[in-house]
Amino acid sequence: MRQTHIIIIVLFLLVSLSCTDSNNKNLTIKGVIPKTELEKGSQIYRAKCMTCHRKNGEGLIRVYPPLAKSDFLEDKLEDAIRIVKYGSGKKIKVNREKYNGYMPASGLNDKDLSLVFNYILNSWGNQYGRINIETIKNIKEKE
Ligand code: HEC
Repeated sequence: MRQTHIIIIVLFLLVSLSCTDSNNKNLTIKGVIPKTELEKGSQIYRAKCMTCHRKNGEGLIRVYPPLAKSDFLEDKLEDAIRIVKYGSGKKIKVNREKYNGYMPASGLNDKDLSLVFNYILNSWGNQYGRINIETIKNIKEKE
């Protein structure tokens, strides 16, 4: 009886650990983003992202995925950063819609990537946390 209890506890721990693993909370850090940084992020967004993802991050259904209230951005931040850093031609699902477009690599450096990400993570009602340059640096292209 005791043993089964222990096994159940261990299983529970394993499951909860593996769940937090894929969570944005592992990548994000605490703290308020200074207004000046958000403003810089917004400038980069307008110059480099807005043509496709639109003015308020709403995207274009089935062509350009939304960034506003995007479950992909919320749950798969690492993949989202990888897409913007290296580009993507893979099928993805955002808010239950399939997207299979091509997004070119942004060509931005890590500093500018962190600025634009902090902007999209915290605009249009999104409250998906804050990242720093280290997070961006550590994300490598998948083989
Ligand atoms: C030429 C149009 C285009 C531009 C410019 C563009 N994107 Fe995208 N973006 C796409 C497409 C298309 C996808 C879906 C890619 C796929 O299907 O694999 C995507 C996917 C994404 C995703 C993951 C899905 C989601 O909606 O959460 C994020 C995050 C993202 N883009 C952010 C950006 C940021 C930040 C910029 C500016 C630095 C940018 N994009 C510029 C077209 C674009």
